[in-house]
Amino acid sequence: MALKQLRMKDGIELEVYDEGSGAALLFLHGFPLHKGMWEPQFTEFKSTRRVVAPDLRGFGGSRNSSAVGPGRMPEPVTMAQFADDAAELLDKLGIDKAVVIGFSMGGYIAFELMKRHRERVAGLVLADTRAGADTEEGRAGRRKMAAAAMERGPVVAVEAMLTKLLSPKTPDERPELAAAVERMMLDASGAGIAAAALGMAGRSDMTELLPDIQVPALVIVGEDDAITPPETARSMAEAIPDAAYAVIAGGGHLANMERPAEFNRVLSDWLREISK
Ligand code: MLT
Repeated sequence: MALKQLRMKDGIELEVYDEGSGAALLFLHGFPLHKGMWEPQFTEFKSTRRVVAPDLRGFGGSRNSSAVGPGRMPEPVTMAQFADDAAELLDKLGIDKAVVIGFSMGGYIAFELMKRHRERVAGLVLADTRAGADTEEGRAGRRKMAAAAMERGPVVAVEAMLTKLLSPKTPDERPELAAAVERMMLDASGAGIAAAALGMAGRSDMTELLPDIQVPALVIVGEDDAITPPETARSMAEAIPDAAYAVIAGGGHLANMERPAEFNRVLSDWLREISK
């Protein structure tokens, strides 16, 4: 793996995968995962594109900015902060524009990139994500998870989320994949989980941004996605001018890992189409 440690303006270091050359693809992972979720896409695209994927602050090999003592809560890391990190990362890597592929929380961040750093986005892939903000109940759930993660660590996220991230078929058909996803979640720190959960709780509703997306866009969703189901994805795609829309048969929320061949085919067909 072509790994780099990049020191950001505020002193934190992000671990970043950067491999290949040509037009850049920037992959933004979901919660509470890390760049390893994109391995099947690294394999597919690194021979034809420049593939960049950070561990977002607080996840994988990247540390969180705010150290907190026992019993204290970290400051939320907002989706805007993650987006600013992504723009700074592009600066540091000398990349002017990238096609941004955001999965779930990575999609919330991609919307903020569109809002705050539109000139850096050559195209937008919204994978298993949504434009809406959390409901009040959803926010309360995030606060509960943040408090529990500070107390008991990342296992809290595994208990709450592992089965929802996967299609119901996956644990039986591909137990090794379910185990890999669990390990990825356990790599996150309690503080990283808490800070991002609080950041997601406070994120803005991006529905009004959708008609204003003027770059090529692709919405992809797993057929069995229990977190951001196909109905949600379809209405998001319909609100974006000329967005392409694809459902990955047999995929759950993590369709890119569960059905990598189909996901990669959809993504590479679309990339070919928009480069014509
Ligand atoms: C993710 O996969 O990033 C999460 O499911 C996002 C969320 O909890 O809203």
